[in-house]
Amino acid sequence: MKKYFIETWGCQMNEEDSEKLSGMLKAMGYEVTDNKKEADIIVFNTCCVRENAELKVYGNIGALKQLKKKKPDLVIAVCGCMMQQENIAENIRKKYPFVSLIFGTHNLHKFPQLVNNAMQSQNTVIEVLESSDEIVEGVPIVRESSVKALVTIMYGCNNFCTYCIVPHVRGREKSRNPQDIVDEVRQLAQVGYKEITLLGQNVNSYGRGLSEEIDFAGLLKLLNNTEGIERIRFMTSHPKDLSENLIYAMRDLCNVCKHIHLPIQSGSTRILNLMNRKYTKEKYLDLALRLKKEVPGISITTDIIVGFPGETEEDFNETLDIVKQVEFDSAFTFLYSPRPGTPAYDIKEQVDENIKHERFNKLVDLLNSIGLKKNKAYENKIVKVLIEGLSKNYESKLMGRTDTGKLVNVNTDDKSLIGRVINVKITEALTWSLNGIPV
Ligand code: SAH
Ligand code: SF4
Ligand code: F3S
Repeated sequence: MKKYFIETWGCQMNEEDSEKLSGMLKAMGYEVTDNKKEADIIVFNTCCVRENAELKVYGNIGALKQLKKKKPDLVIAVCGCMMQQENIAENIRKKYPFVSLIFGTHNLHKFPQLVNNAMQSQNTVIEVLESSDEIVEGVPIVRESSVKALVTIMYGCNNFCTYCIVPHVRGREKSRNPQDIVDEVRQLAQVGYKEITLLGQNVNSYGRGLSEEIDFAGLLKLLNNTEGIERIRFMTSHPKDLSENLIYAMRDLCNVCKHIHLPIQSGSTRILNLMNRKYTKEKYLDLALRLKKEVPGISITTDIIVGFPGETEEDFNETLDIVKQVEFDSAFTFLYSPRPGTPAYDIKEQVDENIKHERFNKLVDLLNSIGLKKNKAYENKIVKVLIEGLSKNYESKLMGRTDTGKLVNVNTDDKSLIGRVINVKITEALTWSLNGIPV
């Protein structure tokens, strides 16, 4: 049997896309391998949200030159967000002529045909569409996990935060029909999935533009009663669109997890303005307090960018201040990375690299101490954990997550527990995970 190897960078959108690539490859008769050397087709699914994501891709493509020499029939395909940027595809073709196929995010479903074209061509086949209005349903998919599934509910983004490349490479917002989503989730439940994560760059604006009158809270309501699905997660929520209805849905719908990923990006209203985020520090704080009040025990996680152009010490202190006030359960922190084609790229006052790093370390220290404090509150408590599989860090342990999204390493190697929600007593809290025993 012919074999394929896929490497994926970037967010869960890309992960789901790679699961579709796997599905199409399987339908074409290929089987997966985790060893590039034995692959007949290698796919790199790329991300360009920050510069270092791109650099990794170039390094990885370059490293395939020898392999292709030894194995002339090897198909090398490069796809994903990075390919949607101007000139990137052409540059790759020039610099790495051994790449067989380059395609973008809008024609993923054409992959089998594109591979065929590439196999018949001596030159690099490039097919990148600028945009697309259609949503293609029914693409085959092979998922990473058999317990939890990613389900994209909307594509693209309309928000144009001034630092962000995503709307430029993923196109305008498009919501899937609710019935298609309901059907997919039902099918997942039928084959044993217990948890779904609804994906979109801004799930809170789900439903805009559909002929049917529905919002994100309404979709959650439709999905909440799917027999067999015990947990519904979603990401990402944009604070500017977080509705009262969503807060109530989180409070009232039993299968919707008590966890929200609500990127704040900065605590300074001045910087938020420059970022085009459309909310203030006070508005965010207000939302966080409302969520905590209405959904007791909720965990709030976030994304923060350090060193946006023009960020002063004062602005940064505002970020530290809101982090202390909200007490995030955890956060992804990023050093601002200028992205060509975005408005922030052209702002002259870039923050000095050393200062950026200093601020970054200070923020991470603060987040770590809060994270540990929040996790400590779980010690000696009994929590429900959906067991996902084997622990990555410990042999002979299983891992899963609480409703609030905390990673728990569970002291048992009873694999029959995989896919089940069990009671676990937390014995030890670490900064970014919990240890526990089944009870
Ligand atoms: N749609 C989601 C996330 C998109 S990208 C949202 O709006 O929250 C994930 C995260 O990458 C963003 O939340 C942001 O914190 C970060 N990010 C995006 N562009 C960036 C850039 N140019 N430099 C550094 N971080 C960036
Ligand atoms: Fe990027 Fe902003 Fe859209 Fe998120 S909401 S993908 S940060 S433009
Ligand atoms: Fe995701 Fe990166 Fe694209 S964050 S949407 S894979 S640019």
